Amino acid sequence: MRIGIFDSGLGGVNVLSSMIKKYPNNEYIYFGDTINLPYGNKEKKELLTLAKKAINFLIKKNVDIIIIACGTISSNCYSELTKEYKIPIYDIISPTINYLTNSNYQNIGVIGTIKTIESNIFNIPNKNILMKKTPNLVPIIENNEIEKKQKEIIKELQDFKNSDVLVLGCTHYPLLKKIIEKNLKIKTLDMGQIISETINLTNNSQTLCELYFSKIDRNLLINISHILDNNYNVYLK
Ligand code: DGL
Repeated sequence: MRIGIFDSGLGGVNVLSSMIKKYPNNEYIYFGDTINLPYGNKEKKELLTLAKKAINFLIKKNVDIIIIACGTISSNCYSELTKEYKIPIYDIISPTINYLTNSNYQNIGVIGTIKTIESNIFNIPNKNILMKKTPNLVPIIENNEIEKKQKEIIKELQDFKNSDVLVLGCTHYPLLKKIIEKNLKIKTLDMGQIISETINLTNNSQTLCELYFSKIDRNLLINISHILDNNYNVYLK
């Protein structure tokens, strides 16, 4: 099976990595729209235009299904996209919401981009949800400054010290998992891991992993090499 995955940049590579671990025998085509990053503060009309461009690109690459590995597109554009396209499209947030709804977690923290938090998608009935917009975190991650800005990151997340779990509501954030769990002693939830555990796919193709980006720089290549431990090729789109 050919699986198309897209995001604004590096974040969705975390989702790609979880998918490859669960379903290694597949062909993966990834698109990261680094030239238009960040998506997190863009208006819905622009998000829809960018999402359609990404989907059209992946369809041209002959993918069988598409995973929207972006919390911002998933929370703002999913229903419009599924109405417009025949190809099966999966959003990254629904599996996490289902998981939380059926879990014993009561006090749930959620961090995400401005547009994901404003969409209110994480407002799960009968749970105490504490949400925070954390737009500063994506540039820190993309610019490979996690170590350098560790104190700033921890300070920003102090509000969640008493949460039972912290949902990493943007696919870039799993790269902060270690720092958060070590310094704040909170369990985190990674949406990429959850979708890879709940989606039901075949696992019998040749293996292939191609990553396309609309802009490529050194930090991007370093970051990808830290996330993926399989063979892959990177191309400029
Ligand atoms: N990784 C994306 C998300 O999950 C987008 C981050 C951004 O571009 O602002 O929302």
